[in-house]
Amino acid sequence: MHYNTPNTTEIRRRLATVLSAPEIDLAMPQIERINQLKKEKNAVILVHYYQVPAIYHGIADVVGDSLGLSQAATQVDADTIVFCGVHFMAETAKLLNPQRTVLIPDPTAGCSLSESITPEDVRALKAKHPGVPVVCYVNTQADIKAESDICCTSGNAAKVVNSLPGSEFIFIPDEFLGQNVARETGKTVFTHPGRCMVHEQFTVDDIKAYRAQFPGIQVIAHPECSPDVIQAADYSGSTHGMEEYLRKHPTGQVMMITECSMAANVKEQFPKMEFKMPCTICPHMKKITLENVISALEKNQFVVDIPEAIAVPARRAVERMMTVGRG
Ligand code: 13P
Ligand code: SF4
Repeated sequence: MHYNTPNTTEIRRRLATVLSAPEIDLAMPQIERINQLKKEKNAVILVHYYQVPAIYHGIADVVGDSLGLSQAATQVDADTIVFCGVHFMAETAKLLNPQRTVLIPDPTAGCSLSESITPEDVRALKAKHPGVPVVCYVNTQADIKAESDICCTSGNAAKVVNSLPGSEFIFIPDEFLGQNVARETGKTVFTHPGRCMVHEQFTVDDIKAYRAQFPGIQVIAHPECSPDVIQAADYSGSTHGMEEYLRKHPTGQVMMITECSMAANVKEQFPKMEFKMPCTICPHMKKITLENVISALEKNQFVVDIPEAIAVPARRAVERMMTVGRG
């Protein structure tokens, strides 16, 4: 996570690493309108790495992975948080900062993982494995978090699992992340068959093909990929973890196995790195646009609200995670 308050010249410089001059000229009036509205409304904009470059470089106050943005949400002193990400992320910000108004520019920005599971599914898993702690990935709606003992993100999943007693854990809803964490911690996992529609598409054959074509290429993958893909990669970590990896290895060629915008957004920091982008788009993340961010700020929409009966236990699971911190 880093704070990002660039001026117009700097925004144009960063965007020039990924957009053409006419594309930048088209986006700048909207970017300037949003940055003006932000001041008028005393709002702060939190942006995930998978947002398009015009949002990431143009209007963000804070950029980060799920954990970094959750941590930032606890420190915000503005009246309003506008979340440029998907709905579960905005909900997590609301859980951690209930006194602020949290807006999501498109409330239908979902996630294949969060949509894969119901509270009944969690109760069935708990009944099947009584006494086994339930770890829920942050990519879940609040009613799922409310059924769980502790939350985690891809940035701290192994640390969270290692903080729990016993040698077994229930991990919902991402079966691949659950399996990857089980291998890392040496514990036994019981999972739910949820998958990220972006990361499940990458295969070991993709990696082999890139390594054959670009000898010496570094392969870094998000842990929502299958265990086979993770084992074939040189590094696996959250979106923030991938950026940190590049900071330590800033030269040569790299293949980033994750959503398209990740490499597009971070590449301006690594001019000596050649990015090969096996590109897969998250349609949910791409529902957020400059246009609907303007509407969100002008009309104060769409407000994220969580019923208290769900918010209280859900917040407990997220706050337990926050005490564990980053892995
Ligand atoms: P990160 O927490 O690593 O940013 O992941 C969020 C996500 O949705 C990845 O698909
Ligand atoms: Fe969900 Fe995958 Fe999109 Fe992340 S990339 S929001 S996990 S569908």
